[in-house]
Amino acid sequence: MTSIPASRPTSVTRLSLSHITAQNETNLLGTVHGGVIMTLVDSAAGVVAARHSGGAAVTASMDEMVFLVPVRVGDVVHFRSQVNWTGRSSMEIGVRITADRWDAVGPEVHVASAYLVFVAVDEEGKPRAVPQVVPETDEDRRRLREAEIRRSHRLARRAAIIASREEDQREEDQEGATQ
Ligand SMILES: CC(C)(COP(=O)(O)OP(=O)(O)OC[C@H]1O[C@@H](n2cnc3c(N)ncnc32)[C@H](O)[C@@H]1OP(=O)(O)O)[C@@H](O)C(=O)NCCC(=O)NCCS
Repeated sequence: MTSIPASRPTSVTRLSLSHITAQNETNLLGTVHGGVIMTLVDSAAGVVAARHSGGAAVTASMDEMVFLVPVRVGDVVHFRSQVNWTGRSSMEIGVRITADRWDAVGPEVHVASAYLVFVAVDEEGKPRAVPQVVPETDEDRRRLREAEIRRSHRLARRAAIIASREEDQREEDQEGATQ
């Protein structure tokens, strides 16, 4: 087994995946089903996470994903994916989704951006340490800063939900005790 370095530059694991959409991928309106795009987002991000971490990595979360424009059958969709941020065992992978229209020559259309958290796991499915990502360009550094903001929001939201559930439980316990 090859040894895993302590850090890796962003460009080493950046990935570009392209897909020509087909008739069997449409929704009732005849445009491409959002789930098809989300599956490919997860796949592209998963490859980057596995390559960066040097082994298995699982999807822990995917942030809200806003579709800006519909993708049509025959369009060529591009998924550009890279590690934005690394923690101890988790990594934020960003995916920028663009499309070339099948019937027009022109600038690529921005379809959506997605941010996923992958956690590197060992043979038992337990989190394991990942190499720290080393941003190389101003764009990489901007993505790292913005990923830190998303990370702090995710942690705060998670903590608030746990606190709210604990509060509900305490109220239920108190009601039970007074009946
Ligand atoms: C993801 C998973 C491995 C985390 O395990 P865990 O025991 O909760 O791990 P920990 O609490 O020690 O957290 C490990 C890391 O994951 C991060 N993490 C855990 N849950 C997270 C979530 N919902 N969103 C973002 N990050 C998360 C933690 O912040 C931590 O990051 P760090 O090590 O970089 O600081 C576990 O929840 C799991 O296996 N989930 C199922 C994943 C899966 O099967 N995905 C495919 C869907 S079918």
